[in-house]
Amino acid sequence: MASAIKQMNVRGAPAIGVSGGYGVALGALKIKAASGNEFIRKMRKVIEALKNARPTARNLPRAVERMERVANEAVTEGKNVDQIREILVDEAKKIHTEEAEATYKISDFGADLILSGATVLTHCNTGPLATTGYGTALGVIIRAHEQDKEIKVLADETRPLLQGARLTCWELQKAGIPATLITDSMAGYFMSRREVDYVIVGADRIAANGDTANKIGTYTLAVLARENKIPFYVAAPTTTIDPSLASGEEIPIEERSHDEVTGFQGVRTAPDECEAANPAFDVTPHKYITAIITERGIIQKPFQRGIGRVI
Ligand code: MRU
Repeated sequence: MASAIKQMNVRGAPAIGVSGGYGVALGALKIKAASGNEFIRKMRKVIEALKNARPTARNLPRAVERMERVANEAVTEGKNVDQIREILVDEAKKIHTEEAEATYKISDFGADLILSGATVLTHCNTGPLATTGYGTALGVIIRAHEQDKEIKVLADETRPLLQGARLTCWELQKAGIPATLITDSMAGYFMSRREVDYVIVGADRIAANGDTANKIGTYTLAVLARENKIPFYVAAPTTTIDPSLASGEEIPIEERSHDEVTGFQGVRTAPDECEAANPAFDVTPHKYITAIITERGIIQKPFQRGIGRVI
């Protein structure tokens, strides 16, 4: 499971959180131990491998830490190894249900913000594939469409791994929502021509002041949205919020293999020896964010206070 998360066979903040929970449960099923304490000792390796599989999304360590807490409590209560395993499997299922349910609520709250006839620009992939539920940013769009609002989408392709082109466009087709694929660098062009009414994105980690880490390119979109007076919404479950970080400067940003930038799916596009950089996420300062849509309601400014209320 840890390699599936690293290699992004499963990706998207809520989906990797859910996978982290199931990963611990799978590990627990394989551990052989004569006592609860031995079980916990052996489980630590599983916990560390999963927690550190990807560093940016808060959902992953949060889910794994929750599993660890539940296992420790079970040992303290004197449960035997079989019982602990069962408790962990149930807890992983609970995490899954909660993450999925959160996306239904986010989608409902967010859809209220969208007027019929709107064109929404979105980035990366934030739909069912990324969340195991309905979606965050894409959930809002899908819900608005289900409410019979006329919605069009501009989907950023999302360099370098093309989650927008490969996944978002596919999910939009499935949902029957008209969508146009654009390259990331076209966003400003469409915004300046008044062809975008809202920008809605997901999040991987939100600091206590509302600064938000999301897929690389999100910050650029937020600045462009401000310049063009377009509302910029972040949609995310409260499991993505990290109140222990005062600002976005403290959010760890994953640096991925440079091969993802110098080529695509094994085909080299840059010259040999070409230097590259590959930060997978950037941080959008809270001042560019209009509101944060969570399952516990829409957080308006000042975010610090609103975030304090929902967590
Ligand atoms: O690197 P990825 O594909 O895991 O990045 C995903 C994103 O940045 C999403 O926007 C974010 O996780 C929100 S998913 C609902």
